[in-house]
Amino acid sequence: MSEKLVTITVDGRKISAPAGSRLLKVCLENDIYIPNLCYLEGMSDPPASCRLCLVEIEGEPGMVASCRCEIRDGMVVTSNSDDILKMRQVAFRLLVSTNDGHCNTCIANKHCELQQIAKFLRQPLRTKRLRHIDRDYPEIIDDHPVLMYEPKKCVLCGRCVYVCNQIPKGYKLDFARRGINTIISFYGSDLDPSSRDCEGCLACTEVCPVGALSSKKKWSRFIAEVKLKQEQKAARQSSD
Ligand code: SF4
Ligand code: SF4
Ligand code: FES
Repeated sequence: MSEKLVTITVDGRKISAPAGSRLLKVCLENDIYIPNLCYLEGMSDPPASCRLCLVEIEGEPGMVASCRCEIRDGMVVTSNSDDILKMRQVAFRLLVSTNDGHCNTCIANKHCELQQIAKFLRQPLRTKRLRHIDRDYPEIIDDHPVLMYEPKKCVLCGRCVYVCNQIPKGYKLDFARRGINTIISFYGSDLDPSSRDCEGCLACTEVCPVGALSSKKKWSRFIAEVKLKQEQKAARQSSD
């Protein structure tokens, strides 16, 4: 039996999609970009924690997170008003208030979703409008046998936790601590922390939208390249 299609209007454009689809997914598939960080396709209960995907829906009070919203026939959506931009900018500034902003030495530089969203929202990655909060964590947490975690780059989107917990024999990444001190923990499972089972998986590193979680092998290669470039630059400068 074929899926029932419904028609919605987004920013004046009529779009047909299967009933019950997530509004964010429908927009993205129809080239209407809505910034998002905490959503992944297939999530049955999206956390809606980043608040970047807010939109307005005719007849509904306030703004709604499009990642949680299921479409229904006749829905009229605005995704690009000034008010929406302002709300998304506020959410973005909160997200980056703990970010170290060291893009030049980040493994995700130039393919980072946070950089793309900053550009879209016309916001800097180091904001002066909100006090920078320097969380009391090391730059790098490297006690996992295969993974490297940089807490000061983590936007706590939870994508890694979600994908890991979908894997039957996953390592069970989890959130640890609370509030401003929340981080990703490698110790949510009974698996032996010294096991190298994650080596053949790396699903969490693939969904990380920033440079916070990477494989140690890839990270080491990247850092070696950064150091080489820095040495070559210093050598050029000293010979000028
Ligand atoms: S590599 Fe796979 S199993 Fe290991 S923590 Fe990441 S998602 Fe979980
Ligand atoms: S490590 Fe990456 S995927 Fe995991 S919560 Fe942080 S930013 Fe999100
Ligand atoms: S993608 Fe909707 S709240 Fe994060």
